Parts: sequence; structure tokens; C-alpha cells
Amino acid sequence: MGSFKPLLFFAVATLFAAYCKAESKVVCYYDSKSHFRQGQAKFEITDLEPALQYCTHLIYGYAAIDEETYKLTPLNEQFDVIKDNYRKVTDLKKRFPKLKVLLSVGGNADVSGQDEEKNIKYRNLLETTTRRLAFVNSAYTLVKAYGFDGLDLAWEFPENKPKKIRSKLGSIWHSVKKTVAGDKVLDENAAEHREQFVSLVRELRGAFKAENLLVTLTVLPNVNSTVYYDPRALSPNLEFVVLEAFDFYTPARNPKEADYPSPLYELVDRRNDENIDAQVKYWMSNGAPSAKIVLGLPTFGRAWAMDDESDINGTPPLHISGPAEAGPLTKDAGLLSYPEICTLLNDPQNAKTQKAFQVKRVPDPSKRKGSYIFRLPDENNNGGFWVGYEDTDTAGYKASYVKAKGLGGIAIVDLSLDDFKGTCGRDKYDILRTAKTHL
Ligand SMILES: *[C@@H]1O[C@H](CO)[C@@H](O)[C@H](O)[C@H]1NC(C)=O
Repeated sequence: MGSFKPLLFFAVATLFAAYCKAESKVVCYYDSKSHFRQGQAKFEITDLEPALQYCTHLIYGYAAIDEETYKLTPLNEQFDVIKDNYRKVTDLKKRFPKLKVLLSVGGNADVSGQDEEKNIKYRNLLETTTRRLAFVNSAYTLVKAYGFDGLDLAWEFPENKPKKIRSKLGSIWHSVKKTVAGDKVLDENAAEHREQFVSLVRELRGAFKAENLLVTLTVLPNVNSTVYYDPRALSPNLEFVVLEAFDFYTPARNPKEADYPSPLYELVDRRNDENIDAQVKYWMSNGAPSAKIVLGLPTFGRAWAMDDESDINGTPPLHISGPAEAGPLTKDAGLLSYPEICTLLNDPQNAKTQKAFQVKRVPDPSKRKGSYIFRLPDENNNGGFWVGYEDTDTAGYKASYVKAKGLGGIAIVDLSLDDFKGTCGRDKYDILRTAKTHL
């Protein structure tokens, strides 16, 4: 009799755990611009299919906002609509009946205007009921017309200022100046925008509910949740929120110093809120149910150029000289896809190179920081790079974290930068598959 209760408890707990496991979300991002890459990097609808057995949700990136009417509009009318790509993607539900396909707006892809204020329309839209209504109505129409299951808001709020690198003297001067003048404020109406965003989500959900359409949120990298998102007020109307807790360090933001782009926990001498755990804690401790929090994993690395002044051990943070050269497939300076990175490591030429100039991989046994690879520059100060990236090990650690914390699942950002061709010598979609097995 005495052992009965614990046994029952154990049985219930096991059932509960099994239930949770079945419910874990795997949100897969499809960035439609990948269609326009060349050669091995060109990503077609048929390339999506091997991934979809693992995905619960597919997010089509990205749609745009018309800056005059505030209506939701296709970003690439020709490709999305005339060439029927929206329909081709939502038609995949016929083969994968459990899959939910959402259209996403923003995602840093909607950059119609110029300069710093390019995304001001995302804040202007929030400011009046009329504009929000125009957006909500047009979203409903577009989503319904192409058979999407809902809308994801990858809202383009202003980003945090990147950390500046200062000399000792400079930092004393800065702290004096700061107390006198204060730092330039990014958005003077941030508090209003935060509340208006709650209204937008509520209104959107109100319009979508009758048709069972979903509203989700993607928190873009370096958008400060504390400033713009009220987890308690937003959560009831969101199916889930994806935290893109990566790109804390990028060559564009930090052209003079390289560091781990997406650490799981706080690292010594770094900002205490620029890591995954801090961001998850913000959402959890401010009223978001853990099951609605989805952790975004990048499938790419951030790549900087090492020069003859960089630390030859490659230990971050380290001095570098701007973004590394573009990769042969993605052709985007400062970014390398997972297959581009594994190709560098697997290159037979590498083993024949003089040891000091080989590409070295530094894994992360601490399970806190992330992996990186680097190569020292040659005698002419050329060819050096340092790349902080997600590999299958670190993706696994992050998925285990998601499981341990009882979060809603993982998101893969994005499929076109994972090994969708199987060039790394393993099955296709190495990062997606490995991460999923840890949930
Ligand atoms: C985010 O905003 C909070 C509140 O204003 C601030 O304390 C924090 O430093 C900001 N984080 C970053 C990374 O800028």
C-alpha cells in the first residue's frame, strides 16, 4: 500500500512527460529569398519536403507592409503571387496534413525605405486604430486567399545599440558624458508602442478566431523584449512566440570584435541579458506560459576576418578586421551556412596544409557558449577567419535546455541554410534532425 502512491505518481508523471513530448513544436522557417541563390544554394519547394516530416509549423518569410495604406502585401509580388509560390507552399499541407503553414511579416526582409528609419512604418502602423484595422483586414484577406493557417509577426522594432569598443580612457569619458547627457533614446514612444502592439495582437486574434487562424510572434535578434513586449498581455492571443535569441554579435553590428553569437548562458565579462537563458527568463518571469515559448536556433555562422593582430589562439572576444569574405554558396559577407562551414572542415586540402594554417574547430564542452572555427591569416595577412556557429552538438544542447525548462519547442532559422542537400556527409537537415531528437 505504502508504495502505491509513489507508483501512481510516477505513472502520471510519465504519462504527462509523454504528453508534453508529443506536443513539442518544431517551427521551421522558410525564407523565400533562398530561391534566388545560385547553384547548390538554390532552394526549391522540393527541397522543403524532406524537412517537413520533422516540422509542426512552417513559416513563410516574408511579407511586407505598404507604408501608405498599412496593408499587408506580398514582398515579391512576381514570385509569391504571379509565380504562385504562396500557393505551392500551402499546398504542401495536402502531403503533410498536420503541418500548419503561416505567413510572416517583417523579419528584417521588409526594407523598402532608406536609412535608419527604414522600418518606422512598423511603429507608425501601431499608432492609430484605423491603421491597425487596415492591417488586420488585409492580413485576414491575404492569409485566407492563399490557404495559410495564420500570420506570424516578425515585427521590425528598432534594435539595441551594439556594444562599442573603447579604450580605458574613452570609457571614463563615456561614463561622464552618459551621466550628463544620457544615451540617445532609440524610440521615445517605446512605452506607447509596447501597449499598441498588445492591441494589434488582440485585434488580429479577434479577426482570426472564428476561422481558427493562428497569430504568432517572432522576436527578432536584438529587439529588446523588455522594451517592446509585454509577455503577460500578449500571451493569451498568441499561439507561440519564437525567441530569435541569436546574433547578439554580428560582423555588421560589431565590426571590430568577434564573439560568441548565441551563447546559452551568461558569459564572464559580457552583458548579462545577451544570452538565451536571460531572454527565456524574461518571458517566463513576466507571465508567458513556458509551453508558448519556442527557442529559435540559427543554421548559420557569423564570420569575421582574422588578421595579424588577432589572438592566435582564436579565443573570443577577439580583435578582428570586419566581416569575412562571402561564402561560395550564400555569397553574403559575414555569414556562412552550415554546409559551407562543414565543407571548410571536411576539405581534404585542410589536412595537407601546414598545421598552423589549418582550419581548426573548437567545440563547446561547457555547453554554454557555442562552437567556433577559425583559420589564421597567411604570411601576407590574407585568408584568416573566425566563425561562431551552431553545429549539431550545440543545437542538441539548446534543444535539451528547451526540454529541461518545459518550453514549447524549437524553431529552425532557417531551412535553406541547414544542410538541405546532405553535403556534410550525413542525412539531409542535420541541424533540424539532431535538435529534434533531443526534445
Ligand atoms: C533592454 O532594455 C532594458 C530596459 O530598458 C535595459 O535595462 C537593457 O539594458 C536593454 N538591453 C540591451 C541589450 O540593450
